[in-house]
Amino acid sequence: MRDDLGIGVVGFGWMGQVHARSMSRLLQHFPDAPLRPRLVAVADVADDDRLERAADAYGFEHALGDWRELVARDDVDVVCVTGPNFIHRDVGVAAAQAGKHLWIEKPAGRDAAETAEVVAAVEAAGVQSAAGFNYRNAPAVQRARELVADGRLGTVTHVDVTFMSDYAAHPAGALSWRFQNEFAGSGVLGDLVSHAADLARHVAGDISELVVDDARFIPQRPAPASASASHFARGGDGPLLEVENEDYVAALLRFASGARGTLQSSRAAVGEQNTYGIDVHGTTGALSWDFRRMGELRVCLDQDYQDASYTTEFVTPRDGSMGAFQPGAGISMGFDDLKVIEAHALVRSIADGKPHGATVQDALVAARTVDAMLLSVSERRWVSL
Ligand SMILES: NC(=O)c1ccc[n+]([C@@H]2O[C@H](COP(=O)([O-])OP(=O)(O)OC[C@H]3O[C@@H](n4cnc5c(N)ncnc54)[C@H](O)[C@@H]3O)[C@@H](O)[C@H]2O)c1
Repeated sequence: MRDDLGIGVVGFGWMGQVHARSMSRLLQHFPDAPLRPRLVAVADVADDDRLERAADAYGFEHALGDWRELVARDDVDVVCVTGPNFIHRDVGVAAAQAGKHLWIEKPAGRDAAETAEVVAAVEAAGVQSAAGFNYRNAPAVQRARELVADGRLGTVTHVDVTFMSDYAAHPAGALSWRFQNEFAGSGVLGDLVSHAADLARHVAGDISELVVDDARFIPQRPAPASASASHFARGGDGPLLEVENEDYVAALLRFASGARGTLQSSRAAVGEQNTYGIDVHGTTGALSWDFRRMGELRVCLDQDYQDASYTTEFVTPRDGSMGAFQPGAGISMGFDDLKVIEAHALVRSIADGKPHGATVQDALVAARTVDAMLLSVSERRWVSL
């Protein structure tokens, strides 16, 4: 018999629902998982019926309006921090101080200082943590990391990371919390670049220096029609309000290994939907991964220096955690599956008392990278990490 693990979710929007589904599915994919997640409580302040849906469709035992009540419950062992960025520090610190393990979305605070407070609380309480860097968990990314680590590309020369989206491309898109620094901390930097920086580091090692340009292409947007509108919603008929943060960044990178790189990200790129990927070139080979074809890794290996071609590998059940989801190569996994893998890493961390997978410490590295990018933009210069 395994023990129950009480799950509390704070913020039941897109990510809160994905966290809840992932915990519900955990034992279906990982039957050997050491603990049995139980959806105990959810907290949200939305002005719609999402709390009723949380109880009805997901089976949460308690639906609350105040996250502090959730954190105070003895039957909650893990707090999923899935609200807007501005509540991450407060919820994360309070939950860790109450002895709860954390599954916190990126960015884990509005900036590195807030993220460091979450890290300090987790370390002081001796609880375990998982950070929402789900793209790491794609089996093809795991394979890419192994190929780089095994020297199959030779010495890495340059790394190019692209995170493009169109969620903010429509000028009538609602001015949700993501566009106001008080609530988000930064724009595409915290939202997409935190992922991109983590992916680059996970595959190719630490970034040591960077220089960045940014742009805000759509300076004003209509207020949301409802307070709980997501960033995919259109705005209401009211006056246009100021967008306070960047839509786009382009960075030159230097890695600690000596490799060079680029990182480009936009939330307002017409024609791009989750065009998230990484290209790594080395002295003897190369690889390329695109989230939209998650199960494929394009590789250029074991050929001559010139006139070498890419081939496409499909990940197999032996790559990463693919075998927990599909029995054979070429059968697709989905975005939510990456979150089940993240949930599994956290549950193993709790049972073993030591971390597996991305943690709040990794979120702090990403947050420091984002802060360095903001500094580079404001001072128009290279910044060391
Ligand atoms: N890992 C990923 O790929 C990924 C993808 C999307 C979002 N995120 C991150 O997840 C977080 C949430 O993003 P989202 O897209 O799910 O947002 P969302 O707007 O869809 O949901 C946020 C939810 O939090 C609720 N909320 C707001 N204030 C609250 C409060 N004080 N107490 C409780 N609930 C509150 C809102 O009502 C809403 O239901 C963000 O930090 C975002 O960066 C990560």
